[in-house]
Amino acid sequence: MQLQRTKLFNEIGDRDWGNRRMIGGNTTNLLELNNVKYEWAYRMYRAMMSNFWIPEEIALGDDARQYPTLTEHEQRSFNKIISFLIFLDSIQTHNLPNINEYITAPEVNLCLTVHAFQEAVHSQSYGYILDSVVSAKTRDTIYNEWRNDEHLLKRNQFITDRYEQFIQDPSDENLVRTVMANFILEGVYFYSGFSFFFALGRQGKMLGTVSEIKYIQRDELTHLALFRHIFEEIARENPQLVTPALIDELRDMMRQAVEHEIAWGQYVTDGHIPGLTDELITQYIKYLSNVRLKSLNMEPLYPEVVHHPMRWVDQFAAMNSMKTDFFEQKVTNYTKSANLKWDEL
Ligand SMILES: [Fe+2]
Ligand SMILES: [Fe+2]
Repeated sequence: MQLQRTKLFNEIGDRDWGNRRMIGGNTTNLLELNNVKYEWAYRMYRAMMSNFWIPEEIALGDDARQYPTLTEHEQRSFNKIISFLIFLDSIQTHNLPNINEYITAPEVNLCLTVHAFQEAVHSQSYGYILDSVVSAKTRDTIYNEWRNDEHLLKRNQFITDRYEQFIQDPSDENLVRTVMANFILEGVYFYSGFSFFFALGRQGKMLGTVSEIKYIQRDELTHLALFRHIFEEIARENPQLVTPALIDELRDMMRQAVEHEIAWGQYVTDGHIPGLTDELITQYIKYLSNVRLKSLNMEPLYPEVVHHPMRWVDQFAAMNSMKTDFFEQKVTNYTKSANLKWDEL
């Protein structure tokens, strides 16, 4: 079924929240928030808003002094990973509105708007890191990395093509595929990069950048939860759409994503980053994909991988350490309710 882009204002729309649907509904497009159908969405909107943070509040002076002392391998990984992260957050900022135009629930439209806004903040943080930590010449190299690195170009192109398919042909099936592509991006593609920064942080290196990454990752967890809910509601409301055949295809998307992410993680670290061997990267990405698929009620692809192979990554990423000025960085934390559990949102 082809989906219609929501009208800016639809005077024959249905205000009855009981008739509201995630896709294919008849919304007036007014942001009515007093009668919401998807209660989780309004809770999530508020949680996302309370996570607001400002990249420039984290000091990067020490990182600027440390960057030249990193090994050649660490600098290479740092540059390539930042370059890929810049791509991921750029495409997210641009693409989320494309999805949002086809979602017919105002409370979910709000969440997707904040989601896109947070991706813009992440882009801002990379700009700030590159301004503060590396030379103008290196900064330029990082922004141009995909021109010189065919692996990066291929990855960027693959991810873009997935999203373009829905833009070119906005069918309900392609929407489900794009929701899955988004979920994979948020839940798998960032993580080789994140673990590299945490591996540096574990050695006491680049702690300001690590703090930026921790804030970014906190946002990504809410993005994952948001898309898990969107997927679940679409599947519940459209059982004829989310068939076993389509689920098989989505699991195949995940399989391909895992292969790409492992190859990328091994390529960028090149066996030269302490704490990140090729084998650990492989196990970690497979483990993550299992967790992600289970959260969508799908069979994991790698049932033999049951344990987190690098528990220190999660301990390192834990946000509660942020409350006590983690790494002695002064960061205003706008979150009033500490330790929100995103998986339960
Ligand atoms: Fe992001
Ligand atoms: Fe995100």
